[in-house]
Amino acid sequence: MSTARFLFQKLAQAVATKGLYFTKSLNYKTSPAPLPPNLDYVRYATLGLCYQEIVARKVPGNVAELGVYRGDFAKRLNQLFADRELYLFDTFSGFDRQDIVTEQSSGFSTGTQNFADTSAETVLQKMPHPQQCIVRKGFFPATAAGLDDTFCFVSLDADLYQPILEGLAFFYPRLAPGGYIFVHDFNNDEYKGAHQAVLEFCQAHHIGFIPLPDSGGTAVITK
Ligand SMILES: C[S@@+](CC[C@H](N)C(=O)[O-])C[C@H]1O[C@@H](n2cnc3c(N)ncnc32)[C@H](O)[C@@H]1O
Repeated sequence: MSTARFLFQKLAQAVATKGLYFTKSLNYKTSPAPLPPNLDYVRYATLGLCYQEIVARKVPGNVAELGVYRGDFAKRLNQLFADRELYLFDTFSGFDRQDIVTEQSSGFSTGTQNFADTSAETVLQKMPHPQQCIVRKGFFPATAAGLDDTFCFVSLDADLYQPILEGLAFFYPRLAPGGYIFVHDFNNDEYKGAHQAVLEFCQAHHIGFIPLPDSGGTAVITK
């Protein structure tokens, strides 16, 4: 074994003890836009591939994220889907009391993580195409009232059981054939409600999904 390979293997072993893994990136397909340097290659690269399928298959519809926080994932959605409207659903003040009660009484999570240090303005400022963004600020599902649209891609990243279940109930019927829903935290032991919501909804409606080994564990639903 060459010295370089030996050293690389030692480095890979060392970072693996921190839960980080070196992996080859997707080698045989061009990325739609350079991936941002972050620690969730699997999630962002899968989004890029889904985007390419949506474009290639001419899947109609707009894009939405429920659970925006400071807009990191939404920024990538806005960059990729530059010609589609992007709905941004969040309280922009953290979890709602009624969702936390469900979390704690069901033992899904503590519901204590604080996502209040953000604002719709902060999010819009980082968007490459802010004119495409429609902010729906407040408690979901109330903020979806009156919205009658079709979606090609939806990110559900609200962490908690109740909003994720409500998100699936609202968006799945409005998902265009060939579209995708990403449910973050499907395999996150700190947010067991996400797993429960996906299982419940998918079993009730005979829907399949693919679990991703990204950070948090996303479930990918398609139609
Ligand atoms: C993990 S953060 C989202 C992270 C974000 N997608 C990113 O890329 O960084 C979860 C967000 O879901 C929002 N949220 C949770 N339940 C909600 C509800 N019922 N209505 C609106 N927003 C909600 C919280 O306010 C919080 O900002």
